Amino acid sequence: MKVTKSIFGKAVNDTVSSYTLSNSRMSVKIIEYGARVAELLYDDVSVVCGFDTIEGYLKDNDYHGSIVGRYANRIYKGKFSIDGREYNVSNNEAGRYHLHGGYCGFSGKLWKLENLGCDDDRAYVTLKYVSPDNEEGFPGTLAVYVTYTLTLADELKIDYVAVSDKDTIINLTNHSYFNLSGVGNTILDHMLTMYCDQYIPVDQKLIPFGYFANVTGTPFDFRTAKAIGRDIDADDIQIKTAGGYDHCFTRDRGENKDSPLLIATISSPVTDITMDILTTEGGIQMYTGNFMTADNPFFSNCPQRKNQAVALECNRIPDSPNHAAFPSCVYRAGEKYTQTTIYRFKR
Ligand code: GLA
Repeated sequence: MKVTKSIFGKAVNDTVSSYTLSNSRMSVKIIEYGARVAELLYDDVSVVCGFDTIEGYLKDNDYHGSIVGRYANRIYKGKFSIDGREYNVSNNEAGRYHLHGGYCGFSGKLWKLENLGCDDDRAYVTLKYVSPDNEEGFPGTLAVYVTYTLTLADELKIDYVAVSDKDTIINLTNHSYFNLSGVGNTILDHMLTMYCDQYIPVDQKLIPFGYFANVTGTPFDFRTAKAIGRDIDADDIQIKTAGGYDHCFTRDRGENKDSPLLIATISSPVTDITMDILTTEGGIQMYTGNFMTADNPFFSNCPQRKNQAVALECNRIPDSPNHAAFPSCVYRAGEKYTQTTIYRFKR
């Protein structure tokens, strides 16, 4: 196993380094800007959308490959309360809702190298970001550590640890967009299984109503493998609202697990590459690139197109601070937040 360091470019007035973790079949390039997965090659197939240069990432508004936080996904009107005290965080979506950490969340920060190494079984890099008290309105200084590990078993493992010095809310995820046929192809033919009995219906602004819905008999039933495109145009109010899938799927009503468990499996009929997703999180946001139309080409000038990739973001349920039915994402001062998510490749 190997890890190499290079210079990727410049951002936030500083040099952005990249760290490439590799084994004989797989290589993963991580950059410090947004702690992003900037490239993932499996058997030489490029399976995560990204850009050739730092300029592509600086222009990007869709969180490509990045770590998202302090709160991934949406918060209604950017408001929530902890012990009766109200907080207001940035309303960066249409000036009315909070999305993915605010105007400049963790995806727009320059993370610092904390550690890197490799041995016979793994190669890893740990990046750190310290989010100041009141950044984007969130209470408490939050230290966040993200470790990307590539294993000999072709797994990309992401371990998150975060601790705040004041009570706060935490919801972190990785926002890689996958295409197992290779960047530039469609994902509508990908076969997907989700081990999730329920999903979270949303309103016109993609904010949860606050209840769980059973997937049985709906386009959201992926409990046995189904092509992503099969029901993506179904005459279903939830599908119409999002213009495809942009929903959180849950198992065990969103409860976290102590160790990572299989939550989804996706495979390409073109390359036969399969990816298992295992996570300690109780939810997974599936976003089928419904708004993927940006004028910011991916690698080798490949234009962005709708449904060209799927993000499968392991996280807490969106807007959970405002819904009693959803597991809490409040972390007390000094309390440790952890998450482990594994993307395991095979063919
Ligand atoms: C998430 C959201 C989507 C969209 C993308 C980023 O997955 O749920 O609605 O905002 O991020 O473009």
